Amino acid sequence: MEARGLIAAGGEATRLGELTRVANKHLLPVARWPMIYYPLQLLQLAGIREVLIVTGQGHAGQLIDLLGDGRMPARGSEQPMFDLDLTYKVQTEPGGIAQVVGMAEGFAGGGKLVVCLGDNLFEFAEVAAIRDWVNGGEGAQIFIKEVPDPERFGVVVYGEDGRVSDVVEKAGVVDTRYESPPTSDAVVGLYCYDAGVYELIRELRPSSRGELEITDVNRAYAEQGCLDVHRLQGWWHDAGTHEALSELGALVEETGANKPA
Ligand code: G1P
Repeated sequence: MEARGLIAAGGEATRLGELTRVANKHLLPVARWPMIYYPLQLLQLAGIREVLIVTGQGHAGQLIDLLGDGRMPARGSEQPMFDLDLTYKVQTEPGGIAQVVGMAEGFAGGGKLVVCLGDNLFEFAEVAAIRDWVNGGEGAQIFIKEVPDPERFGVVVYGEDGRVSDVVEKAGVVDTRYESPPTSDAVVGLYCYDAGVYELIRELRPSSRGELEITDVNRAYAEQGCLDVHRLQGWWHDAGTHEALSELGALVEETGANKPA
């Protein structure tokens, strides 16, 4: 069975202030494209055609206006931009990334799921790592990148054998077992899950920020010994702040995004 894709494109994006009063964050421009084109392109490059987009109420219309059924040529050209089969779902209350993944259970139909956060951009599309995992992996695969500001993210912790033994969400704020991040290896917004993920999500309790945390899902896989961890090449950014948004456009123009490795 082919893997299916999920893009999490919800949230109020209040950190972006005036920009997101009406517009969905994932439609804001990054270089020459609306932000959501990048995760869509990443999934397409990885060979995934059937993609579920989960967004907040009030934003689904904008996304459907732009993307339609997922088959679209580049504007003013016959060249295909996307040849995807898109499905949409509405998350009425923001309940965390794990809740969004849980919403994909019926859509995934018992197959594997590749999840992209709609505001995460990558220099390299990591196609080989995704394809290899889809073709032979079990459990879950996550991707990490060393960052200068690990307090903003989920980070992995290594056991004595060098394997990931724990995952910590925003140390000192969401996960108070640690005062500060135990490592600088951030978990990025690209995840691969087998069909066991939904059972794990059903057992989750909301975190101190009131969300079902994807980090808790990844920790459960780590505890079961079935979490693959792949270190990213090239840059990775989430476009959730003004600073990131304004710098990313220039970076994408300079280096390109979603390049083959
Ligand atoms: C989420 C995840 C976090 C991850 C980050 C990547 O954070 O919870 O583990 O490192 O995405 O962008 P959030 O955007 O919910 O703050």
